[in-house]
Amino acid sequence: MGKLDGQVAIVTGAGKGIGRAIALALGAEGARVAVNYLSSAAAAEEVAATINGESGQDRAFAIKANVSDPVESRDLIKKVLERWGRLDIMVNNAGITRDRSIRKMTDEDWLEVIQTNLNAVFFCTTAAMQPMIEQKYGRIINISSMNGQTAAFGQANYGASKGGIIAFSKTAALELARFNITVNVVAPGFTMTDMLAKVPENVQEQIKSRIPMGRFGKPEEVAKAVVFLAADGDYITGAQINVNGGAYM
Ligand SMILES: NC(=O)c1ccc[n+]([C@@H]2O[C@H](COP(=O)([O-])OP(=O)(O)OC[C@H]3O[C@@H](n4cnc5c(N)ncnc54)[C@H](OP(=O)(O)O)[C@@H]3O)[C@@H](O)[C@H]2O)c1
Repeated sequence: MGKLDGQVAIVTGAGKGIGRAIALALGAEGARVAVNYLSSAAAAEEVAATINGESGQDRAFAIKANVSDPVESRDLIKKVLERWGRLDIMVNNAGITRDRSIRKMTDEDWLEVIQTNLNAVFFCTTAAMQPMIEQKYGRIINISSMNGQTAAFGQANYGASKGGIIAFSKTAALELARFNITVNVVAPGFTMTDMLAKVPENVQEQIKSRIPMGRFGKPEEVAKAVVFLAADGDYITGAQINVNGGAYM
């Protein structure tokens, strides 16, 4: 018996990194999981196959959607509803970086990051909340970042998008509480994924030396916080869990 038996989840950007770990952890607790991807088709298929295991049951499937597109993101939720008839857990995880100092940042760098990291959360949340309102149950979990709370050189666009997620989630929590829908944020610190791998190695070492716990986080450690909010966070809404090894307190 898993804590999420019978529940349906969507995880955006779930082919790799933190999203992958979240999808696997929700699946391990018994949820059915729609594994969204944009470019990592094979990886997303592998995540879905792992959740399905040997069971032969329809426990997970990979589904392509560019969540920065309002039509595609809403269609993603529609397709999951058509397949499984309900939606309990929406994890808005997809995210990108286009790091550059403000002096060099182009309009494109700014707009692309805001569209993918912040506007997509609005598109997916507004679509996901409809069936949740009807069910009178829902768990919306948005993946922000430590860098939505504190300054990071070269990340004006990213920090604005992640800070925006925190502000958006609080208002959504306020407005949706009456429908027994909770909206919370998980804010990872530096976590070992492809996103962090893009940071030059010497900079990674400098960052690590400033983390009180002395190491980077693992995607699975972020996933634990998401599962906690989904499975046991009954009376937690408008909150934020920092999973950052003490890097920002
Ligand atoms: N790693 C860190 O240190 C860290 C720290 C704080 C917060 N975060 C946040 O954690 C989340 C996951 O990041 P990660 O570290 O796992 O990065 P990652 O390994 O680079 O993965 C990013 C994921 O986002 C997906 N994605 C990007 N644009 C998309 C779009 N338009 N539509 C659908 N999916 C899209 C990618 O899908 P495809 O591969 O299929 O294209 C990929 O699965 C992000 O929101 C990130 O900002 C990460």
